[in-house]
Amino acid sequence: MTRRELNAALVAGAVLAALPVVAAVAEVTGKRPLPAVRRDGGKPLMQALEERRSIREFSDKPLPAQVLSELLWAAYGINRPSGERTAPYWRHVMVTDVYAVMADGVWLYDPTSQALEHHLEADLRAQTGQQDFVGAAPLNLVYVAHGERMKELSAEERRLYASVDAAFAGQNVYLYCASEGLATVFRGAVDVAKLGSAMKLADGQFVTFAQTVGYPKG
Ligand SMILES: Cc1cc2nc3c(=O)[nH]c(=O)nc-3n(C[C@H](O)[C@H](O)[C@H](O)COP(=O)(O)O)c2cc1C
Repeated sequence: MTRRELNAALVAGAVLAALPVVAAVAEVTGKRPLPAVRRDGGKPLMQALEERRSIREFSDKPLPAQVLSELLWAAYGINRPSGERTAPYWRHVMVTDVYAVMADGVWLYDPTSQALEHHLEADLRAQTGQQDFVGAAPLNLVYVAHGERMKELSAEERRLYASVDAAFAGQNVYLYCASEGLATVFRGAVDVAKLGSAMKLADGQFVTFAQTVGYPKG
């Protein structure tokens, strides 16, 4: 399938229904398209706030593609035609990337195409934190900052503002999880230097926080 045919299929909306097309997309672009996000439904905000909590016991049941798509969109997806995000971010400079670390590798969330971009083959889940559950839960989000885009700031200020970006996205994930009956915990107990090196991050990029997501155990 050529890129032109692929684009035609995407425009026609056929990609969500036709698995062979999805496979072709991955082949041509190294991207895994995610299902269209449903923007209605979910629990009312006050109920989601009531149910928001950290849960640290996870089932190994995988997350369906629909859930993964909506979870990532909640974290840092595009919610306006201008390209702005579901979470606020530092001084209108886009410094934060969200990576999905799963059994089948490390994937970079691309909000523009609502897709996962293949980054690494390896299963790095166990390296995303210092707690036992991280290696077995189906998904660990890793919040990564482009420090090189925060030019005028000290290293300390870069980490501070990038951490705030991550925290807003993390709270969006908490609320989506509360709404969908998923378990999650935002985590700072991460060897960020080691993880950044395992993830082969470029110069200037650094890990701020991680967040485990899955179905609750039992
Ligand atoms: C900045 C930050 C770092 C955190 N790091 C960890 C962590 O490394 N491991 C963990 O199990 N929980 C971590 N948490 C979750 C907190 O322990 C949890 O939010 C707090 O105990 C309150 O519980 P609740 O979220 O259920 O209300 C972190 C939370 C924040 C905001």
